[in-house]
Amino acid sequence: MILWFSGCGNSRYVAEELARLTDDRLAFIDPNDKSPRIELSPDEALGFVCPVYAWAVPRLVDDFVRRMTLTGRPSYCYLACTCGDNVGRTPERFSKTLSKQGLTLNAAFGFVMPETYINLRGFNLDSPENEQRKIAAVKERLPRVAEQIMQRKETVDVVRGTAPWITSYLINPLFYGLLITDRKFHVNDDCIHCGICEKSCPLGNIAIKEGLPVWQGNCTNCMSCYHHCPKNAIHFGKATLGKGQYFFRTHD
Ligand SMILES: Cc1cc2nc3c(=O)[nH]c(=O)nc-3n(C[C@H](O)[C@H](O)[C@H](O)COP(=O)(O)O)c2cc1C
Ligand code: SF4
Ligand code: SF4
Repeated sequence: MILWFSGCGNSRYVAEELARLTDDRLAFIDPNDKSPRIELSPDEALGFVCPVYAWAVPRLVDDFVRRMTLTGRPSYCYLACTCGDNVGRTPERFSKTLSKQGLTLNAAFGFVMPETYINLRGFNLDSPENEQRKIAAVKERLPRVAEQIMQRKETVDVVRGTAPWITSYLINPLFYGLLITDRKFHVNDDCIHCGICEKSCPLGNIAIKEGLPVWQGNCTNCMSCYHHCPKNAIHFGKATLGKGQYFFRTHD
């Protein structure tokens, strides 16, 4: 079984492709499911596919693992994480979360994909050429990773970046404490009241009131609402003004 979470579609694509290539089934990591039940059949693998947020899996993924009731033991457990650049010590951090469920992380695979985080000055999207280059490289990598999963290979195959311990263990808590909020979101007059932002939020954190989005205080800053708005009418303080939009589209 492949459990997946995605904001802007990169991780969803990787999850769907790995499911297709390894003939596995998919289940969404629903942050609002208070008591998730995961039932595994004998010899089944358990995969987690999600983005990297601040050099770790999103907290809501850790929280889901802590809440879930697991029936059956996986024969193999892996993480396939997508990132814009690098993941620090994401596998080691997630391995610790899994160990609280009595699970061992046998493998971790990283997929470098188009950037989605633009909420700070100096952070921007990739150029369209770079987005295409990254997606082409991921398409090439997926069958090789799927093969390793089917062979139950034990490996850690990720780009860690510089000072991985510092990014994952020191910067991560600062990032969550100081930067993850929905209080800075606002909408401008270009809004056409289509409701796409509400539907695109994987946490159900947007309510439409009098035609406009209202953020409800339960946000992971996945940026799906910002990137999916057809009018680019959503902004995060001043940091996103003048910046572009990206979400994964199925490229044939
Ligand atoms: C809140 C947030 C934090 C992020 N942190 C990192 C990071 O630490 N390292 C990195 O390389 N990319 C980081 N990114 C980029 C995403 O991991 C990357 O674009 C990912 O593929 C998005 O996946 P999704 O489309 O499934 O949401 C971050 C993106 C967001 C929205
Ligand atoms: S997606 Fe954009 S245009 Fe549509 S309701 Fe939301 S803010 Fe308005
Ligand atoms: S409100 Fe926007 S940024 Fe926050 S979780 Fe929902 S889609 Fe993601």
